[in-house]
Amino acid sequence: MDAATFRRLGHALIDWVADYRERLPTLPVRSNVAPGTVRQQFPHAPPNLGGQIDSALAALDTAVLPGITHWNHPSFFAYFPSNTSFASILADIVASGIGSQGMSWETSPAATEVEEVMMDWLRQMLSLPAKFEGVIHDTASTATLCALACARERSLAFAPQGLQGAQAKLCIYASDQAHASIEKAVRLAGFGKEYLRLIPTDDAHAMRPGLLADAIANDRQLGHVPCAIIATTGTTATTAMDPVDACAAIAVANHAWLHVDAAMAGCAMILPECRHHWHGIERADSLVLNPHKWLGVGFDFSAYYCRDAQHLIRVMGTNPSYLRTVRDHEVKNLRDWGIPLGRRFRALKLWFLLLDQGVDGLQAHIRKSLALAQRFCALVDAHPDWQRMAPMSLQTICIRHRPAGLDEQQLARHNLAIARRINDSGKAYLTPTVLKGTQILRVSIGAERTTEREIDALWHCLQISLSD
Ligand SMILES: Cc1ncc(COP(=O)(O)O)c(C=O)c1O
Repeated sequence: MDAATFRRLGHALIDWVADYRERLPTLPVRSNVAPGTVRQQFPHAPPNLGGQIDSALAALDTAVLPGITHWNHPSFFAYFPSNTSFASILADIVASGIGSQGMSWETSPAATEVEEVMMDWLRQMLSLPAKFEGVIHDTASTATLCALACARERSLAFAPQGLQGAQAKLCIYASDQAHASIEKAVRLAGFGKEYLRLIPTDDAHAMRPGLLADAIANDRQLGHVPCAIIATTGTTATTAMDPVDACAAIAVANHAWLHVDAAMAGCAMILPECRHHWHGIERADSLVLNPHKWLGVGFDFSAYYCRDAQHLIRVMGTNPSYLRTVRDHEVKNLRDWGIPLGRRFRALKLWFLLLDQGVDGLQAHIRKSLALAQRFCALVDAHPDWQRMAPMSLQTICIRHRPAGLDEQQLARHNLAIARRINDSGKAYLTPTVLKGTQILRVSIGAERTTEREIDALWHCLQISLSD
């Protein structure tokens, strides 16, 4: 492709994206295609001859778009918000256009230094102490795996035999509401699932610190070593907040690593009025939040902060001759701050977003989500047949419909059917889940374009979906 063709198609594609965003409200939120439908639109084998790129635009509409679930739709209430702002789309184009590989400072100094600046700006926005240094990962799952690797090496004092040389068993603690990525990281980091302790939670679904302390004491008696505690600031099911400060005190007393998983809710900590939710955060050894969830930085952009960057570098660093440069002693080589060697220029996305909206704009967006959640809550609370199933800490509302005369099994089926009808209708998209054995419906508010209109429409959808 020559530059002239690229320019022509590029302009057309920008128009396509802008048109797509404008007509989003008219599209069904969740894709309704049957499995295999998209695959069938593609020839069995790749084209031998090129020169067909002009057909790409039309194919996007016919072959791809029907198979898209629209995460930026204003009636997207499933899972968690995942906003890709226009500004971060533009930044992605720049990153791809430059096509740099930021594995070392020298391989593109700007990629490293813009990332340093952005992670410091974000740190300031979150009011984290200056000693926290950050790096961009793809996802919270990866960041948590890094945190557990750091915890493991601290417990093992970097013993070359690794876990295989350890006499004592290393234990990890998280709440029974922790995300599945915690168990995955425990397995991948070699601790073994058997040594993950899931601590019971209270009525607000937050970890009970007294039971955490008991579990650690019990393990110590057995000769095990408490290696890491993972506190969740905003659990997946209900956005419950584990008590970070109490967890930190227990971590310090037991020389355990404290990692805070604030995947989505961490975004709200740019608001001073929300920061009580992670009181004690400055005592964490590491934390992760995903600006790609609620802040508007397009996927992927997960922010990992640690209190001791030198420790992280010791765990993640490599030093083969082919990667050495004369500047190594003066600069950060971000390949030594995480798992992959190769790194994309993701920092541009946050930079462009902040240039476009400023901190004020991002704070206004989060505050709007919180207000919309209050509005939805009020509708639920005013109706005798709808029940809220968990306290609302931020913007996740857990509900179920509970008409008289149904037993628990019937209620579960009834609520699953409500979710199916709404999601099949394409008018809104929410997530049914099971909370401590009870089938609930989970409404997660935070899409950039959601307004009171979509909230009221969702409430209306819920009412008309009560029966077939
Ligand atoms: C609390 C929590 N932690 C971790 C994750 C995993 O996030 P990621 O997709 O960035 O790995 C999620 C995703 O929903 C989450 O809710």
